[in-house]
Amino acid sequence: MAPTSASVLTPRQRFAEDVRRDLDRPQKRLQPQYLYDALGSQLFEAICELPEYRITRAERGLLAANAGEMSAGLASPVTLVELGGGSGEKLALLIEPLVRSLRDVSVDLVDVSATAIALATRTLGRFPALPVTGHEATYEDGLGEAVAKRSGDDTILVAFLGSNIGNLDPAEARAFLGRVRSALRASDRLVLGADLVKPEADLVLAYDDPLGVTAAFNKNLLGRINRELGANFDLDQFAHRAVWNASASRVEMHLESLCDQSVSLPGANCQVLFAEGESIWTESSYKYNEDGIAEMGAAAGFARRDQWVDGEARFAVTAFDAV
Ligand code: AVI
Repeated sequence: MAPTSASVLTPRQRFAEDVRRDLDRPQKRLQPQYLYDALGSQLFEAICELPEYRITRAERGLLAANAGEMSAGLASPVTLVELGGGSGEKLALLIEPLVRSLRDVSVDLVDVSATAIALATRTLGRFPALPVTGHEATYEDGLGEAVAKRSGDDTILVAFLGSNIGNLDPAEARAFLGRVRSALRASDRLVLGADLVKPEADLVLAYDDPLGVTAAFNKNLLGRINRELGANFDLDQFAHRAVWNASASRVEMHLESLCDQSVSLPGANCQVLFAEGESIWTESSYKYNEDGIAEMGAAAGFARRDQWVDGEARFAVTAFDAV
């Protein structure tokens, strides 16, 4: 596959390169970011409505009850930067008390998906005077762009919700939060949503629901490779698996081959052999405990200001001050 220039790959070429490299590893892998094509994003929205997947509802409840405290004391004007937000509904809960207290507020939405930015922008239309800027970019690039617009004394409140932090391994999560901290000033704040460890049965059910929505979300990645790279994965010959790895504190999603098989991926210039029972590891969702979240923030240069926990769903939102 010829790159367009020596170093710049188109998104399709990057996808093909990543798929070829990751399916050639001893433990085959696919990067979780590729779960979110248009269909995968819709399936994820459906997951958030499942009774077994409680993250979204728990976080919404914590924000609805405590958003005022989460932004308390921030000096006006406030720029709220949401990293990878989704529909904008949870962000609206954070904005309400700021608008009510008549603080001068603006919002920057950062997402690699233009569709997600458009959706959130539409939701925030319910605040008519609110300036909203979209950044179709990675979290870090978009945060950099939002921070670069800062004029004078604005305070920045970064929202990183939905337990997206859980899809990074702990070392990556710390490094990522460290880079967020480096982009901020001492008076700024971070609001972080993170899922907590809970009984194994609840965790497995949340990632392997009886309706099969999460299985469809996972298998759609093979469908995407078929559609975009001309591959011939037979989706019926792979099974969705969700496994709780207690020693690593993560739920792993895999796609397990149900037979010995060979799959060709012309768009990635490769042929991949699978043995029966061999799996492709597609995602990890790390689960924390309350103190672990505070420690992760502290290691990145943040001090825990407050933490709100939904004890039943076992989910936490933590407000950190940049120190
Ligand atoms: C986006 N992310 C936080 C979800 C999670 O819980 O790890 C993605 C997901 N995967 C399966 N279900 C939901």
